[in-house]
Amino acid sequence: MTDLQRTATSGFENAFGSEPHGLWTAPGRVNIIGEHTDYNDGFVFPMAIDRRTVAAVRRRDDDRIRVSSSFSPEIVEVSVRALDPDALHGWSAYPLGVAWALGQFGAPLQEVPGVDIYIDSDVPVGAGLSSSAAIEASVAVALTEIWHLDHDRRTLAKICQLAENRAVGAPTGIMDQSASLLGRRDCGVFLDCRSLETDVIPLGFEEHDLELLVIDTRVEHAHVSGGYAARRASCEAGAAALGADSLRDVTVGDLDRARELLDDETFRRVRHVVTENQRVLDTVRTLREHGPTSIGELLVASHASMRDDFEISVPELDLAVETSMAAGAIGSRMTGGGFGGAAIALVPVALASSVAEAVTAAFAEASFTAPTIFPVRPAAGATRES
Ligand code: GLA
Repeated sequence: MTDLQRTATSGFENAFGSEPHGLWTAPGRVNIIGEHTDYNDGFVFPMAIDRRTVAAVRRRDDDRIRVSSSFSPEIVEVSVRALDPDALHGWSAYPLGVAWALGQFGAPLQEVPGVDIYIDSDVPVGAGLSSSAAIEASVAVALTEIWHLDHDRRTLAKICQLAENRAVGAPTGIMDQSASLLGRRDCGVFLDCRSLETDVIPLGFEEHDLELLVIDTRVEHAHVSGGYAARRASCEAGAAALGADSLRDVTVGDLDRARELLDDETFRRVRHVVTENQRVLDTVRTLREHGPTSIGELLVASHASMRDDFEISVPELDLAVETSMAAGAIGSRMTGGGFGGAAIALVPVALASSVAEAVTAAFAEASFTAPTIFPVRPAAGATRES
């Protein structure tokens, strides 16, 4: 049992006064490439990471569902028969939202037994590593088993996305939940967000002695409000003006026409998504043909597109990318929704500490808050642990 699983077990016992029946875990993720493409029906290529959330769960004999967590001392209690996405708030909206969303996908919530759930996690919150998807996925696999449901992982990703969209109120796509549910050791998850077809592709980081550094800028972001929804709205407006169902149907060859039809800002939003879809396809092909040391330029081009066209970077992320590249990284880019959060740098293991030191020094020089820098490994998706 890991330390985290042990603290989750004792947290459960302190909150509810008995032992959990089982522990289910799910990882956070970093996105290797494919940003703001998921809700445009496009392509993404994230990986699950070795930072996980634990859901310790015990079945009850009545209809109550109680949730508690290491994030806050409160215990939130509702009837599983009366779950209402509009009445959920705070962190408990994630686990309770998943229970509600399972009902939307056919779980007989009028019959299933109640549960006690305790959540603990070592996925940093607010860093763009999908701590929220990790909670959702851990609870989804736990309840699927306890309630004897038979949803496959792709359906569970949709269920978790529905929880995030309706119960939490964040208009996000399906990437994070898919990565958390489908990841595999040393692999990335190539996902077509239109068909939901997935291909789990070996990254070869272990064989090539590469490491992925997360550079958490500690500029906190949130997707419930602000820029994320505005970007999504621009993409939808751009697609409509071009007569497309979604930006998935617009190609690099259509961009000249798009420039004539769209205002400058909408055009640049569209250009980011269209070129980013192409970069995901190019990354997967390059990885297969030439291995992970050849994908660096695509990662850097993705960052430039988010900085200049989609305008979701911040000075801290740009500095993290520039400095890690100057210090010898193979590739680097911001990851996740943007407006803060983390950058990633793909580095040879031998250079990891000098890249980290260079970034830390550059942040100090710029008088930015010191970043938190740590390596992550591509890890397995959600699973039962005990
Ligand atoms: C957040 C969302 C994802 C995706 C990314 C941007 O992580 O949760 O669905 O849209 O931003 O690529």
